[in-house]
Amino acid sequence: MNWIKADQKVIANTYHRYPIVVDYGKGVMVYDKKGKEYLDFTSGVGVNLFGHGDPGWIDAVTKQLNKIAHISNLYYSETAVRTAQKLVSKSGCQKVFFANSGAESNEGAIKAARKYSHDRYGEGRDLILTLTQSFHGRTITTLSACGQRVFHQHYMPFTSGFDYVRANDESMLQEKINDRVCAIMLEVVQGESGVRMLDSSFLHQVQKICDDKDILLIIDEVQSGIARCGALFAYERYGLHPDIVTCAKGLGGGLPIGAVLLFDKLADVWQCGDHGSTFGANPVACAGADYVLSRCDESLFQAVQKKGAYMAEQLRGCPKLSAIDGMGLMLGATCNVANAREIVEACLEQGLLILTAKERLRFLPPLNIEKAQIDHGLAILFHVLNHW
Ligand SMILES: Cc1ncc(COP(=O)(O)O)c(C=O)c1O
Repeated sequence: MNWIKADQKVIANTYHRYPIVVDYGKGVMVYDKKGKEYLDFTSGVGVNLFGHGDPGWIDAVTKQLNKIAHISNLYYSETAVRTAQKLVSKSGCQKVFFANSGAESNEGAIKAARKYSHDRYGEGRDLILTLTQSFHGRTITTLSACGQRVFHQHYMPFTSGFDYVRANDESMLQEKINDRVCAIMLEVVQGESGVRMLDSSFLHQVQKICDDKDILLIIDEVQSGIARCGALFAYERYGLHPDIVTCAKGLGGGLPIGAVLLFDKLADVWQCGDHGSTFGANPVACAGADYVLSRCDESLFQAVQKKGAYMAEQLRGCPKLSAIDGMGLMLGATCNVANAREIVEACLEQGLLILTAKERLRFLPPLNIEKAQIDHGLAILFHVLNHW
């Protein structure tokens, strides 16, 4: 069977795929149907935190699978409680709502923010400010939240109640604040737009405005969270105190799960019937997340910071790359000699998987990658770049 042709026949053509058919993965390696091996600097776009087939993760997930695969949210579940307890104790939030993806978690965050504002201030205070170049998901509402014009086409009408501030523009932020604003939503490291860290002074201005005016700070940690940036959440490294945090991707370690973390004043914003999800808190996905969270400790954070700093330093040493940015093992680089997709395609041929993000190269390797494996992957990348 030609799986590429078969795919094109029956699967909606929404992805610009690379021409390999993945068969299985082991550790930081992925193997295609022809038996060719690839070093994985993508982690399934930041999902497989500990690489492929991590024995502890497989054990946790299969144990749960053997007990019960799914039960509705009408009943209590130990696995969900354990996972939420870990999120609460590690983040300091009060309550957790489980969703199934990043977009769904952000939908939840937007709903929680509007409900808080409505309960407290009544109608008309429902505007959410987001940043240019942000990415928050692909539902109609989270597309509205994306501060990128390219996402605001085809699907009109979009959800209203969003306005956009240029990332890092402190005077524009000040101008956009008015009595209608109920929340500011942002990624502290903008992933999909090229891995760009926001300025610390801008973030602290956002925090101050939120504190002064009871405007909620929603931080989207879907890509940057769960140890990816060398802390449980990237915002911790800036000393921020958000009201709502969303996460997904790495949380399940390879299974679909997202979470909305509700801090202090949001703890009781939702009551029975206000929100829900059939698959949210699925016990198998929660078992994966519970295992992932059990490994999210200071020693992992330190290791990620160290490996990330090493990788960034190596990338900075390459004359064909510039504007290296990011935190921990979430890094981006501009390629000076070719467009990013061409480089990614050439690396693929040489046995290395990397990502693009807009016009930039993006690196999201598994967090347990070893230094020698980083060196091996970068040697492939630099070899490709040197021959350009
Ligand atoms: C910051 C951010 N938010 C939200 C999303 C959407 O997540 P999902 O694709 O799981 O819906 C992504 C996906 O890349 C993301 O990077």
